[in-house]
Amino acid sequence: MPLQIIRNDITKLTCDAIVNAANPSLLGGGGVDGAIHKAAGKGLLRECRKLGGCKTGQAKLTGGHDLPCKYVIHTVGPKWRGGQNGEREQLQSCYRASLRLALEHECQSVAFPLISSGVYGYPKEQALKVAVDCITEFLIEHDMLVYLVVFDKSSFQISEKLFADIAAFIDDKYVDTHFLFRRTQQDGRGESTFVGATEILPPQESERAARSAEPFREDAAPSDLHKLPPVAAKTTAAPMQTMEFSLADALRREDESFSQALLRKIDEKGMTDSACYKKANVDRKLFSKIRSDVHYHPSKQTAIAFAIALELSLDETKDLLLKAGFALSHSSKFDIIIEYFITRGNYNVFEINEALFAFDQALLGV
Ligand code: APR
Repeated sequence: MPLQIIRNDITKLTCDAIVNAANPSLLGGGGVDGAIHKAAGKGLLRECRKLGGCKTGQAKLTGGHDLPCKYVIHTVGPKWRGGQNGEREQLQSCYRASLRLALEHECQSVAFPLISSGVYGYPKEQALKVAVDCITEFLIEHDMLVYLVVFDKSSFQISEKLFADIAAFIDDKYVDTHFLFRRTQQDGRGESTFVGATEILPPQESERAARSAEPFREDAAPSDLHKLPPVAAKTTAAPMQTMEFSLADALRREDESFSQALLRKIDEKGMTDSACYKKANVDRKLFSKIRSDVHYHPSKQTAIAFAIALELSLDETKDLLLKAGFALSHSSKFDIIIEYFITRGNYNVFEINEALFAFDQALLGV
């Protein structure tokens, strides 16, 4: 995935270049500037002294010295003065100038901190949006792996209302699934019996329970029932749910593969291949693998990223996932959050990632 949003200490990253949120003197300071100078050693300061400073919105490159990366790109972000003094344009210029330098030095990978969002006071959510917009704009034209390093959770805040709305949606869906399973006294054969819906299993138990609920085969002779995992054999509501699912599943599975379905959907949506995989934040090499191998099986995250990029409906998403052997499960918060955004027609990958991040889930495109 060309743009990865990660939580890490930028001085630890081994990519080709890391970007420093410096000040105009380039002689070090606090925050990420201080951390980089400390980890790079005195050699970095000596080299910076020869650069003669740097203007806001511009960028200059040095060696990595004692850091694990090859280069450090120093850029000076704007100080936040209310947002009416060209701060946004200056911040955009920091990302563009730094990416240009990385390109000129043939970097395959570069890591950014959230420039200006610390000491310089740029509101984190706005700083994140500027960063993401500039980086994705660059990645449409260029192949590079770009990390956006979010150092503290406060950098990735979704609005309280959205958070509460998603939390309620999760509770609602999560309850349904766990409402169906209740673990009784294990009788030694691992049998669990559906005795009514009161207790909500802890997530890890319910995930195991949901995973073991193999599709209920309508053709299963009574004698076969004991071969199905106990959960499916003994719960009344779940088999109905999985029976519908397995019938549809059986009917659909005999035709096209994931790769064929994906290419068909791209055509149906009138998109080009590159527009689709860029929007899905999938790199070109992975896409050409999917395109050339009709039986290629992507990860669930990649399949979902394509569904979001193609702005598929929930049913179309389930269909596409099914081709890759996956299903959206109500015992996975990640899946429920994806369902939340799709059912509301919101396919903005970065708003989805902000929500996934807020609920401690893996991010799309990571
Ligand atoms: N790794 C990744 N990100 C980090 C790290 C780290 N080790 N340390 C801090 N950050 C994050 C902060 O959480 C913030 O989100 O980097 C972002 C930028 O914050 P600052 O480092 O304060 O930079 P900035 O807001 O651009 O202010 C620059 O601060 O340190 C001084 O000399 C610097 O005067 C300059 C000013």
